Amino acid sequence: MRGLFDLTGKVALVTGSSRGLGKSLAEGLGEAGATLILNGTNPDNLNRAVSDLRARGLAAQGVLFDVTQPDQIRAGLDEICKDHDAIDILVNNAGIQIRHPAIEFPFEDWDRMIRADLSSIFYVSRQVAPGMIERRSGKIINICSLLSEVARPTVSAYTAAKGGVKLLTKSMAVEWGPCNIQCNGIGPGYFDTEMNRALIDNPEFNAWVCKRTPLGRWGEPKDLKGPVVFLASSASDYVNGHILYIDGGLLAGI
Ligand SMILES: NC(=O)c1ccc[n+]([C@@H]2O[C@H](COP(=O)([O-])OP(=O)(O)OC[C@H]3O[C@@H](n4cnc5c(N)ncnc54)[C@H](O)[C@@H]3O)[C@@H](O)[C@H]2O)c1
Repeated sequence: MRGLFDLTGKVALVTGSSRGLGKSLAEGLGEAGATLILNGTNPDNLNRAVSDLRARGLAAQGVLFDVTQPDQIRAGLDEICKDHDAIDILVNNAGIQIRHPAIEFPFEDWDRMIRADLSSIFYVSRQVAPGMIERRSGKIINICSLLSEVARPTVSAYTAAKGGVKLLTKSMAVEWGPCNIQCNGIGPGYFDTEMNRALIDNPEFNAWVCKRTPLGRWGEPKDLKGPVVFLASSASDYVNGHILYIDGGLLAGI
């Protein structure tokens, strides 16, 4: 049974993995045996994350590129190809959040959000998938959100983007499934990361999350390790086009 979840010999690229959920997702994959390629746009932060994971005994290297820039992605993938024959696992995690009431959402912020949280996943996957198609093997995991399903005020662009990621995941699943690539999503609930700093520090919102989540707490980044290993491993070889919500049960009730 343990072998089903073993990622020894697999190479995993996790975008936006210098901190937060991405770093923890990478750590989980590394603990299951994968060789890790971390990604970010800031060299210092990226190097720190690589050193940190290496200090924990994991095989890790960093590749700098901005997921909103197709040319930078190409150059980053070419750099990875120098050291590795293939990318077996791609986790599209990088993302941003910009909050405004919809009525006053600046157009440039809207465009930035859609590019960073939705188009980026297409830009990266579109360039990683050809190698997977050629080898008839690959796992793509897109990080969705509760807001792929439901909305809250002030995050209209994020909600539109994450709703798009859910259906982009299904599109990739139906187009690339015949080539034995499994493409699935993970939809985190409310997790304690820098992206949510303002919400965590707001006592009213913090209390709302704890009351509204049946498990009574914010998610911790390590809560995603098991789910990502499942979706990256042969344990999920017949799971395709599925979004796995990891939300302490929040979406189960109203
Ligand atoms: N924290 C939550 O509660 C939560 C819930 C649902 C979904 N998510 C999603 O999980 C993912 C990670 O979120 P997080 O909470 O760890 O946020 P975070 O802000 O801590 O981390 C995001 C990472 O992505 C990187 N990044 C941003 N834009 C990038 C770009 N253009 N190119 C390369 N890297 C880039 C950042 O540098 C950062 O390291 C995001 O897609 C987010 O939408 C988070």
